[in-house]
Amino acid sequence: MTAPISPVSREAIVRAAILLRAGRLVAFPTETVYGLGGDATNARAVADIFAAKGRPRFNPLIVHVQDLAEAETYAVLNAPARLAAARFWPGPLTLVLPRRHGSGLSLLASAGLDTVAIRAPAHSAAQALLHETGRPIAAPSANRSGRISPTEAAHVADELGDDVALILDDGPTPLGLESTVLDLSGEAPALLRPGAVPLEQLTELLGPIAASGSSAVKSPGMLASHYAPSLPIRLDVIDARPGEALLAYGPDAPTGFAEMLWLSRSGDLAEAAANLFAMLRQLDRPSFSGIAVMPIPEHGLGRAINDRLRRAAAPREY
Ligand code: TXA
Ligand code: MG
Repeated sequence: MTAPISPVSREAIVRAAILLRAGRLVAFPTETVYGLGGDATNARAVADIFAAKGRPRFNPLIVHVQDLAEAETYAVLNAPARLAAARFWPGPLTLVLPRRHGSGLSLLASAGLDTVAIRAPAHSAAQALLHETGRPIAAPSANRSGRISPTEAAHVADELGDDVALILDDGPTPLGLESTVLDLSGEAPALLRPGAVPLEQLTELLGPIAASGSSAVKSPGMLASHYAPSLPIRLDVIDARPGEALLAYGPDAPTGFAEMLWLSRSGDLAEAAANLFAMLRQLDRPSFSGIAVMPIPEHGLGRAINDRLRRAAAPREY
C-alpha cells in the first residue's frame, strides 16, 4: 500500500512522531532534500532504512538532531566542530565526528564505524518532528540507492511509497542540494561531500580544508556513479545532438534541442541548485535520447552542482 502524503500540520507532526517512536519510517522535508527518517536509537528501524533504499550496509547514515547540545550526547566535538556548529547549525552542514560510547545510537546507523555523521536541520518541519519525537532521527535522502535525491514529496512517493508509513509534505525543498559533509574526526578537516554550504565559507571559518580524494572508504556514499537518471548525461555541452533535452544555465542557451529547461537563466547558482534534481527528473523520459547540461561555474554552490552532475554522468556501477 502506498504511504499517505500529509501536508505538514501540527496533527501530522504528532502522528509522524508516534510512528517514529513505534519504529516506523517517515519521510520528511529538510531545507536540503527529503529524508527517509527512522529512530536512530532503534536498530530495527535503522535496518529498515537500509532495506527500503536498497542501500549497502557499509554506507553510514546521517543522524539528525535538534541542536549542538543534543549532538554532544552522541559525538565528541572538538573546537573546530563547535565553531562550525555554532556558525552553520541549524543548517545544511553535516559533521563527521568521533562517536560517543554508550550513547544509545544504533551502531548500524554509522555502519559500524567509530565516527558518526550529525546535523541539525534548519527546516521548521524537521525541527518540529525532532522536537516532538524526542529521539535522534537517522535519515538518508529519501530515494532508492544510487538515484536522484527527492526535492518534492511526490518524488518520495514514486520511489519509496510502499516502504514508509507516512510522507510529510511541505512542498519543494528550498535548497535542493544535500548538506555539505565535513570530516572533523581526524587531524585536519576534510571535505567528504560538497553541498549546500559552500567550501569557501568553511575555509573562511576553519582555514584550509583537504579534499577527501573521494576515498571510497572514508565516505562510502561517494561512489562515482550516483544521482543517476535513466538517460545518459552529457556535461559542458555547447552543441545539440539529435533528440537530446537541455538543462541550460545563463542567458545564452544553444538551440536545436528537443526540449530545454533553464536551471537559472540569470546565472544564479542558488536557483540552479534548487532546480537541479527536479529538472533532471522532469527530463528523464524515454522520448529523449539523453540529457545535455551546459557548463556550470566551479565555485560556491557550483562545486556541489558539478559534483552531482559528474556522478549522474558517470558509468553506472550497478
Ligand atoms: O542534506 C542531507 O544531507 C540529506 C538530508 C535528508 O539531511 N541527507 C543525505 O543523506 O543526503 P545521505 O545518506 O544520502 O548521504 C549521507 C552521506 C553519505 O555520503 C555517507 O557516506 C556520508 O554522508 N556519511 C555518513 N556517515 C558517515 C561517516 N561516519 N563517515 C563518513 N561519511 C559518512
Ligand atoms: Mg543520498
